Amino acid sequence: MDNFTQTEFEQEVKDAKVLEPGRQGPRVYLTPENKIVKVFRPKRRLTSNFLVPYALRFQRTSERLARLDLDAATVESLGRCREMKLHFVVYPLIPGSSIRALDTDPEKQSEAVARLPGYICRLHHQGVFFKGFHLGNIIWQPNSRFALIDFQSTKLRKKAISVEDREKFFRNILRYPQDYQLIKQSGIESFFGRYLQSSQLKTVQQLALLDRLAASYSYPELKTALDSLSNKLKSR
Ligand SMILES: Nc1ncnc2c1ncn2[C@@H]1O[C@H](COP(=O)(O)OP(=O)(O)O)[C@@H](O)[C@H]1O
Ligand SMILES: [Mg+2]
Repeated sequence: MDNFTQTEFEQEVKDAKVLEPGRQGPRVYLTPENKIVKVFRPKRRLTSNFLVPYALRFQRTSERLARLDLDAATVESLGRCREMKLHFVVYPLIPGSSIRALDTDPEKQSEAVARLPGYICRLHHQGVFFKGFHLGNIIWQPNSRFALIDFQSTKLRKKAISVEDREKFFRNILRYPQDYQLIKQSGIESFFGRYLQSSQLKTVQQLALLDRLAASYSYPELKTALDSLSNKLKSR
């Protein structure tokens, strides 16, 4: 990890465009060379960041995702600026847009959402527990493959993730109204139906997941769709 003085860091991002502003200063920059500079500013000293900085976790996760043959931001370098109390990672811009940002191209957006259940199955099956997953943290590339960004809090397990973690994963997406709307547009029952079909979970596990999801949400359409899936599974 390279050390930067404040002047050196400011020089590094001088001509960059701010993609995500933040209260303590920009969080994500895009440089004229199409590199992303993602900045981590720990709020308090006594967070887990103190032991393993988020920038380092981001880099490690990035390498492990590549070994799983999952497209993701690939860290080229990382640095720290003690004066500004920040760490940062630098990685190339991934071509395409996040599923959320595809609202400018509804056809592409619904194609991406339709492909999502199969992809999420793959993540879960490969043991990727992406805690902060939402539709702004996944890029739909022009080659019709997904790529992951913003994964510093992701846990990678040796085996497929548990039903409990799968429920937490979906709970996180469903708490964003804009993401829920996209899933609703694509058909909630077909979305979860396709997920379950490719999930390799036993029927009892599928039912347990549906029960957990239905219990944590009050959206009436979601409950109806999950109940309907449950009933179909039970009557098989
Ligand atoms: N490698 C990348 N390729 C394309 N867009 C990116 C890339 N990295 C970040 N972005 C854009 O920047 C936004 C914010 O980046 P992200 O890492 O998700 O930071 P934040 O912590 O602010 O959510 C993303 O939603 C995406 O639009
Ligand atoms: Mg993000």
